[in-house]
Amino acid sequence: MRAHNVMEDIVSKYLDEMFSMRFDICTCDICRQDVMAYVLTRLSPKYVTGDSGAVNTLMEQVRAEQSSLVLKEIVNAVRLISEHPRHQKGQDHEEAYQLLMKQIKIDRGADFSQYRDRVLKRRIALRMRAHEVKSYSEYLQVLIHTPEEYEHLFEVLTINVSSFFRDKSVWDQLRDEVFPEIIRAKRAQHGLKKIRIWSAGCSHGEEPYSLAILLYELLENDDAGIRVEIIGTDIDKECLRQAEKGRYGLESMKGMSPHYLRRFFIAVKDEFQVVPHVQAMVKFKDCNLITDPGIDAVDMVICRNVFIYFNRSLQEHLIMKYYDALNKDGFFVMGNSENLLGEARHVFKVIDSMHRIYQKIETKRR
Ligand SMILES: C[S@@+](CC[C@H](N)C(=O)[O-])C[C@H]1O[C@@H](n2cnc3c(N)ncnc32)[C@H](O)[C@@H]1O
Repeated sequence: MRAHNVMEDIVSKYLDEMFSMRFDICTCDICRQDVMAYVLTRLSPKYVTGDSGAVNTLMEQVRAEQSSLVLKEIVNAVRLISEHPRHQKGQDHEEAYQLLMKQIKIDRGADFSQYRDRVLKRRIALRMRAHEVKSYSEYLQVLIHTPEEYEHLFEVLTINVSSFFRDKSVWDQLRDEVFPEIIRAKRAQHGLKKIRIWSAGCSHGEEPYSLAILLYELLENDDAGIRVEIIGTDIDKECLRQAEKGRYGLESMKGMSPHYLRRFFIAVKDEFQVVPHVQAMVKFKDCNLITDPGIDAVDMVICRNVFIYFNRSLQEHLIMKYYDALNKDGFFVMGNSENLLGEARHVFKVIDSMHRIYQKIETKRR
């Protein structure tokens, strides 16, 4: 019986895992072979003769004893080979990626050219891993032959994680400082008094419903006749369909206080339904922030955890689009890790830097 080097299986398995996660190195077959060969010359072979049981036992043993050494060698080899690949550096990988993005645009009209490559590549790697393919060209073939894959791809590209009152202290600040100011200003107005808010990139609607809950409580005993209209928009139509239903599982409810839960939700089996009077305060609309006009004449734009996808110039452009959408003295709220960029730094005043709350300054722009 032929002796089998289990080190080859171990290295190959680690490489599969690593190559399916990495988007910053070339994962073509040539580079994979080179990494494999380099690593195997640096590790002592572990031969076994026998059936698959014997192979597995030795593999487990070697893995337990040598996994950190093997990983160290793989990391070194990957660095070395990706710096000096046998083919022209970066070309195959990057060209295939550009081709893939072009095809997505042709097939589905979705233009991700202004999204950050790093984010996109990390997310596409998840789908490549699901299909056990190692290169962008192979993944392109998957999309061509199984168009249903587009649904899964878009799901990961426009990740929709959200929850009610996400980052609680932001919402405390809105309730205690910002909304009372908006309400005071509306009371002083003549004629129709309406607070209009745009929740841009609202996912399944947790954010616009959180706004509605706060405003409902602040206004329920107010006799100034102030009406509220909250418009949640997103590019993802499936998200919006769910948002309209207003029914949520436990995952979305993790920031919810028992008080709000009792007052504004009805338990339906293991889910929670937003009460009709809060639901009536919110409308949903399909809107691609990059290409569609958006919502106008609003007192607040809240756009949190959406900018991460976009490159800097698109972020700058969008913030100014929100500026234009805002009424006089309107508020703009961003996510905790997002920042005002470019011209926006001069046309918004900082209300609360920690919670990324800003207010429009009137300029000659309008
Ligand atoms: C992480 S969620 C943020 C949800 C919510 N704002 C929050 O902070 O909890 C990001 C949302 O942005 C949406 N999105 C991504 N690109 C978009 C675009 N070009 N136009 C509109 N929405 C977009 C996604 O579909 C997703 O629902």
